[in-house]
Formats: sequence, C-alpha cells, structure tokens
Amino acid sequence: MIMKRVLVVWLLAAAVVVTAVVGVTVTYDHRALVIDGKRRVLVSGSIHYPRSTPDMWPDLIQKSKDGGLDVIETYVFWNLHEPVKNQYDFEGRKDLVKFIKLVADAGLYVHLRIGPYVCAEWNYGGFPLWLHFIPGIKLRTDNEPFEAEMKRFTAKIVGMMKDEKLYASQGGPIILSQIENEYGNIDTSYGSGAPKYIKWAASMATSLDTGVPWVMCQQKDAPDPTIDTCNGFYCDGYKPNAANKPTMWTENWTGWFLSFGGAVPYRPVEDIAFAVARFYQRGGTFQNYYMYHGGTNFGRTTGGPFIATSYDYDAPLDEYGAPRQPKWGHLQELHKAIKLCEEAMVATDPKNMSLGHNAEAHVYQTSSTCAAYLANIDTQNDATVNFNGNSYKLPAWSVSILPDCKNVVFNTAKINSMATIRKFVATNVGNVLSASKAISTEWSYVSEPVGISSSGAFKKPGLLEQINTTADQSDYLWYSISANVKDDETQTTLHVKSLGHVLHVFINDQLKGSAIGNPITKDFPITLKSGKNKLDLLSLTVGLQNYGAFFDLAGAGITGPVQLVGLKNGSTVDLSSQEWTYQVGLKGDKLGLNTGGSSLWVSGYPKGQPLTWYKTNFDAPSGDNPIAIDFTGMGKGEAWVNGQSIGRYWPAYIAPTSGCSDCSYKGAYNSNKCLKNCGKPSQTLYHVPRSWLKPSGNLLVLFEEMGGDPTQIAFATQELQSLCSHVSQSHPISMEAWSQEKSTKKSKSEPRVSLECPHPNQVISSIKFASFGTPQGKCGSFSHGECQSTDALSILQKACIGSRSCNVGVSTATFGDPCIGVVKSLAVEASCA
Ligand code: GAL
Repeated sequence: MIMKRVLVVWLLAAAVVVTAVVGVTVTYDHRALVIDGKRRVLVSGSIHYPRSTPDMWPDLIQKSKDGGLDVIETYVFWNLHEPVKNQYDFEGRKDLVKFIKLVADAGLYVHLRIGPYVCAEWNYGGFPLWLHFIPGIKLRTDNEPFEAEMKRFTAKIVGMMKDEKLYASQGGPIILSQIENEYGNIDTSYGSGAPKYIKWAASMATSLDTGVPWVMCQQKDAPDPTIDTCNGFYCDGYKPNAANKPTMWTENWTGWFLSFGGAVPYRPVEDIAFAVARFYQRGGTFQNYYMYHGGTNFGRTTGGPFIATSYDYDAPLDEYGAPRQPKWGHLQELHKAIKLCEEAMVATDPKNMSLGHNAEAHVYQTSSTCAAYLANIDTQNDATVNFNGNSYKLPAWSVSILPDCKNVVFNTAKINSMATIRKFVATNVGNVLSASKAISTEWSYVSEPVGISSSGAFKKPGLLEQINTTADQSDYLWYSISANVKDDETQTTLHVKSLGHVLHVFINDQLKGSAIGNPITKDFPITLKSGKNKLDLLSLTVGLQNYGAFFDLAGAGITGPVQLVGLKNGSTVDLSSQEWTYQVGLKGDKLGLNTGGSSLWVSGYPKGQPLTWYKTNFDAPSGDNPIAIDFTGMGKGEAWVNGQSIGRYWPAYIAPTSGCSDCSYKGAYNSNKCLKNCGKPSQTLYHVPRSWLKPSGNLLVLFEEMGGDPTQIAFATQELQSLCSHVSQSHPISMEAWSQEKSTKKSKSEPRVSLECPHPNQVISSIKFASFGTPQGKCGSFSHGECQSTDALSILQKACIGSRSCNVGVSTATFGDPCIGVVKSLAVEASCA
C-alpha cells in the first residue's frame, strides 16, 4: 500500500516535470539566430491572420510546415484591433492569440511584426484613423503624442503575448519581433526627427523585455541590439550594420500585389528559388517569403488607393489556401536542400571562389562537413564549371546546391515538382435552373437616394478634404450644391479637381460621368436646365494610402476648384467657395441594408441603375472546394454575405491592354516584369469563405454604385483540372535518393516524375498526356517532340491510374531509348477524380 502511494506520488511528480513548459533563449551572433544555444538556418513565410478565416488557419499552417517553413511571420494590424481608441477587438479573424497558438501547435516558430506601422497594402498602413485627430500629433517621427500611442499599443500586444506565455523565452513560439517597418526608405523626409524617433522606437521595444530579439527592416541605423534586416526581391550581399548581427531577409516578395485597374503580377519560381539560394549561399541564415499565403482583403481593409480585394500575391499558397504548383513544391525541394546544408552552414562562414565569368562557388567547410552552392548569375548563358575536380553544368541564372560538396541535389532552374492547373468553374446553386449559372433570379432592391438624404448632413462654405470629414467611417462623401443658370447657359462644362480616388457626377439626379485617379482633374460636358439645377458629386476613397513619407496626410476628395466653365460669354462660375452640403456615407448604411434589414426592399432587379442595393438568398454550392462569387456584369461596389463584407468589388475596372509580354525568369525581377490578364478586368472573382455560409438560406447583399446586372452574378468553385510533371534526365537526383546513397554508398539513381492528387480520397483517373523523348510546352498544352518512346502512355497509365500517387523513373531503362545520344525528358499530364 505504501509502495503504491509512493509510486502514485512519483508518477504525479513525473507528469508535472513532463508538462512544465521550458523557455528557450533566443539570441544571435554574426552567423545566425541562436535558439537554445544552437545557430539555426531558418525559412519563414508570411501569413496575415485577418486575410483568411480561423477555420482556414490550421490548414494554411500545416501546408506551410509541409512546404518546409520553420517560422510563420505576421504583422499585427492596429486599426483592426483598436478601431476606436481603447476599445479592443480580438475576435474571429482578429484572434491573434489563437493564430499564434495554432502555429505553436504545428511546431513552428513565429515572427511577430508588431509595427505598429505595417504598410502591407493595408488601410492607412495599419494606423487607426483616430490617431490623426489627436491634437499635436505627427505620425512616425519624434513626437510625444504619437510615441505615447505607439508605445501603448506595442506594450498592449507584448503584454498579451506574455500573459499567454507565447514568447520563446516563456516556452512559446515567438522567436522574433519587429518594430516599425521600412522607415529607412523614407526617413530623410522627416529630417532630424527621424533618427531620434528610431532610437526611441528601438529602446522602447527593448524595454518591453520580451526575451527575444527585435528587428527593424530596411533600417540601416537600427540601434543595437536591434537587428537591421533586408526587404526586396533579392537580398544576397546584404550586410547588417554591426559585425555581431546575422544577415536576415524579412521580405522576399513572392510576387506582387494586385491593384484595381492593373494587370495581375506573377513571379516565376525559378527566380524566387534563385534569389533564396543566392541569399543562403552568400551567408544569409533567415529568409521570409512575403507572402507565403496572401489571402483576401475582406471588408474595407485594403490600403491604397486602389489595392484590389484579392491579396493573392502569386504566393506559394493561393488566395484560397491551395498549393500553387509548381511554386510550392519547387520551394519545398529548395528548403530540403538548404536544410541538408544546415550543419555546415551554421558551423562556419562561407568561403567564395570564382568559377569563371559570372559563376562562383561558396563553400561551407569544416573538418567534418562540407556544403557548397554553385551559382551562375549570367542572365543568358549556361555555364560548365569545374569545382572540386568535378564538372558541373549550371543553367543561366541558377544555383546548384551540393550538400556534400559533390552531388547536386537541387538546381533552382530545374523544376522537379509537379504542376497543377486549378480553375474556377461556374457552378449551379439551389434555387436556379441548371441552364443558368446565376446565383439567383429572385432579387430585391432599394434605390439609394442621389445626394443628401440623411439628417446627419451639414452645410459648410468651401470644399472639405474627405478623410478629415468622413474619418474613414465610409468610402462615400456627398458634395452637393445647386446652380442657377439662364436659358442660354445650359450647355456647359463642369470642371472638377479632386485628390481622388473616385468621383461620380450626378446632375439633376442622373449619373453624367465618373473619374478615377489620385488625383483627378476632369471636365464633364453637361447639359443643365434653365433655372435651378441639383449638382451632387459623390466622392469615394478606395483604401487609404499605406506607404510613403507623410502618407497619412495625403488626403482625398474634392478639394477644388469646382467650376462651371464656358457659361455665357465664356465666363466661369467658381463654385468652390460657395456653401456646400455634405453627407458622410449612404442612407442604406444607416438603415442596415447590408444585413438585409429594413422594409424598403422591393422585388426586382433593375439593370444598369446606379446607386442600387440588391439582395438575394442562396444555397451554398455543395462540396468543400473554395468558393468565389463572379461579379462579371457588375460595376463597382461592396458585397456582404450573411452580413460579413467580402470586400469591394470592381470588375468594371479593366487592366491596360499592354504590358503583358512573355517573361523570362532569367535576369533581375521587378514588379512590372511579369504581368498577365492585360485588357481584362483586374478582379472578377471574390472569395466567399466556406465558414461564412450555411447550407441554405444565405443572404447576399450588394451596393452597386455605377450600374450593373445582378442576374449575371454567379458562383464559381475552384476545381483541380490537371496534374503535370516534366522532368529531364539531366535533373538532379532526388534528395531522398541522395540521402540513401550517402548511407548505402550505392550508385547514382535516376531523376523521377512524381504525381500526387491533393485530396486523400482522390485517385489518378486518367493520363491525358505522356511523352518520353523531347516533349515541349507546358502543363495543359504539352506536345510530342521529334523523339518519343511509343510506350510512355501505357507505362504511365499502368503505374498511376487508380492510385493517389505514382512515381516513375525518367530513364531509358523504363522507356527504351527513342533517340540515342539526346538528353530526354518525361512530360505527363494527369487528372484526379
Ligand atoms: C514592403 C512593405 C510591406 C508590403 C510590401 C509590398 O515595402 O514592408 O508591408 O507593403 O512592401 O507588398
């Protein structure tokens, strides 16, 4: 009995020991972050929690982990959490603590970029607008009222993290934190206030005593112990400002953000992989993909002006959370290759040697280990180089990784991983006949009055700047006035100057023209009636400025002049300083139309009618594939699903017809280099998170400004159309094979094609194309070359059909040799069902 009791006590004690969370130290030296006494080579990726939904978070985090990330980076969005001073909100998509805990559950680290200025294509760069109204405040400089607020919010977030024991020093996942953001890019505009502010920010952050290092990105004068880090498309060669700081890359842009009115940017993965490999080659040890998952700018969260609702970013995980292939897979392979070098990389500094014109090697070597990166930075020519007594072929603009200084396991320009084609396909729902893909044929509507309709309207002489007037409570500000003209003055021109962003001109309740710009200067030819005329100018913001010196003071709206030009005798009537009537926001907002409320709804769907609220009910598309609403047919506005804003829609804004030439991954990338979708609407598809829907009886409300046809609105679901792979005999051997060879010392194995259906319950159902020889083209449009094996299709069918995944060697042993002496490849396109 006594024995038993002793045993129980002992077991209890053991349990306590096991569950006690042990903090680790996070420090740094000139090579790397040092976690728990060990230097680490880390790969990080940005996921901004409010740009997806909590039910998406676990999967996004898992796919990041599977992709080879060690760290998830997120900004903290001040204006989301404190929309009204001292009123905090951490619910739902704003549940920062939950997000961080999920990252911890997956076994990954967190880099918490508190900012609290974040840029991020986020409204007002993350600042709450109320800051602007604090007397005497000057943002982002040595200014007491600003610093007091910045400190309060930063301390609030740090306090929350500490309370939840989320810092690594407390046993949590946060290993790093950022204060400010890229201030160094614009700090000279702030004169002598800038260096003082940066000193203050660093010491304020340090004083919060998080137990983990702070970084400042793009801040050459980041004071010790803060680490200055690099942002950009390339950061190899970056040198931090002190000899004891590691080389860190906080933003490697995986693509670029989309603007309304712009074409869709993309960045080839061969170039991203090249940039990353070059960074680790030249001594870097921490790199973050901005973005790894971009997501969606729900509600009115986009920065601006004109940042689109989609923040897909051409990231490795697409807007909806699916791996973008081969981007995700190629980077996954890259990360494995880099990790094979970690031991050597943390042991020593790299030694570099020239391998000829535009080619160089960096070698990490100690007495027990050796890893090397061989680069050919030539933008055109492939190279054959000698290294350590062996010959290596290096394609132009590529890096080969040799974890044993001998075998190439990865080359950045050779994509081994599969590609996928995913498309949004119009889908039928609930109450609609199958011939039509429309969401609904049963609509109700309410017409928003033109001009002043609310009791909150007020009169003021002169033209008011918009943001100061609306405090960003709404995108909309009415500027209304009446003008008296004589019989012979009815043909005239309305000349308007505005700081932006969009202007709709209504004359006697009719929409007579619109303008877009930042700023806008436009002449509207108009016909007035003799006598009194009603002039209503609707001015809109489309996301507040988020970048640049003094971005907070950029302003918006009609600041004048507003003139009637060319009245009788060519005279001009300047309306600018007359008395105007103002209304912030829409009547429908006040009536709560976005949640379907009010008895004003009448059935019908007037087409092409500006300023109209529409609503309908719909059933959710079946299945679990991601859903988007296709707003083709509509103009511009905002939409709500079950009361939640899915964001601003603007399919009427078309990208320029030129600028989308074919782009090569070779040579330095910039955000205009690779564009697609020219001449088409910038964004037609808008994400509706599954978790916002019930199976039936969902409510869709939209407010349309310019006029559209709601019966064209349709649902689309994301469908996987094809899996592809195209691997050459000359590709590096797989890393698994390399590791095996290392342990068994067996001879070299061949490269392999692998295909896998993303869903565990799917199998490969058909081989749409297979060719071993010299096939050409890309996924979706492969074609046979002059040389081809006759058996490729049947071999692939046999190996793959009916299985979730398959794996076939790219070799003459499998396929025979259709053209002796020629380097051959295997191209396959398959589908899953
Ligand atoms: C950086 C900034 C990020 C983001 C990015 C562009 O300058 O730090 O927040 O705005 O540019 O996507």
